[in-house]
Amino acid sequence: MFGMRHVLSMREFSRDEIDSVLDLAEALEPYARGGRCDALSGKILALLFFEPSTRTRLSFETAMMRLGGKTLNLGPAEGSAIAKGESLADTIRVIGGYADALVIRHPKEGSARLASQFSPVPVLNAGDGAGHHPTQTLLDLYTIRKESSLDDLKIALVGDLKYGRTVHSLAYALALYGADITLVSPPTLEMPATIKADLAGKGTIVRETHDLDSVIKDVDVLYVTRIQRERFPDPYEYSKVAKSYRVVPENLEEAKTGLIIMHPLPRVDEIAPEVDGTGHAVYFQQSFYGVPVRMALLKMLMGESR
Ligand code: NCD
Repeated sequence: MFGMRHVLSMREFSRDEIDSVLDLAEALEPYARGGRCDALSGKILALLFFEPSTRTRLSFETAMMRLGGKTLNLGPAEGSAIAKGESLADTIRVIGGYADALVIRHPKEGSARLASQFSPVPVLNAGDGAGHHPTQTLLDLYTIRKESSLDDLKIALVGDLKYGRTVHSLAYALALYGADITLVSPPTLEMPATIKADLAGKGTIVRETHDLDSVIKDVDVLYVTRIQRERFPDPYEYSKVAKSYRVVPENLEEAKTGLIIMHPLPRVDEIAPEVDGTGHAVYFQQSFYGVPVRMALLKMLMGESR
């Protein structure tokens, strides 16, 4: 359905295309839970992770296995020819000859786009530094659709909005759904001005505050993120903002009954474990939804009827 296309950022997706991924994810969810489906039998997905990953890597692997396909894993860069000085471009050209699609996560912004210029097969960006994380956004939207609603949505994006790639991608997609967005971050970790300007250009309502308590009672979704320690040039700067926000049950006393709390995970201490049992927490369902959503994307990119 998508044919030969790369999945690099949400800026290249229309609302109709997103809805078609989410609809297919819905149809595939029973298989994600353990059914049998051979839609991608004979297909190979290569996983190139140059940064730590648990959910993204394993849910791509699970998605591929649930569709009857197989995965190739580059493993740590130290164990590959990259340690001998091979360029990313050459690595991509070679692995593109072994697999039907590539998933790449890399610490440098723009690396997935670079990879797409050398790859003979579709490239999926699984996070490029502080840049984008479009497949996470698709599963985030799926979670909102399942656990709340994408219509008339009021959402707060909380935490490290400067370095957090999940919120960069999500903000672009939310603009397509006409969401009302409140940005909550420490003053030094605000959403980049270019993204705010893009959102304003699309007519999106965007408010900014540093005060989490003032927004909780008004929103349908609280999307909490980790302060991205690994992106800080100076550990001292990290220590100054490390514990800026912590959601605890007392914060939620005036929240809407239907409020959902999301987090791409891993969490450090921005959501207390006591919140897990409140009925607002959906972050573990959210991480499961990575499987049907990635199944849908992979099928659209590599399936027979593409
Ligand atoms: C996120 C990432 O890697 O950007 N994790 C994920 O993919 N679920 C969020 C994070 O690391 O904080």
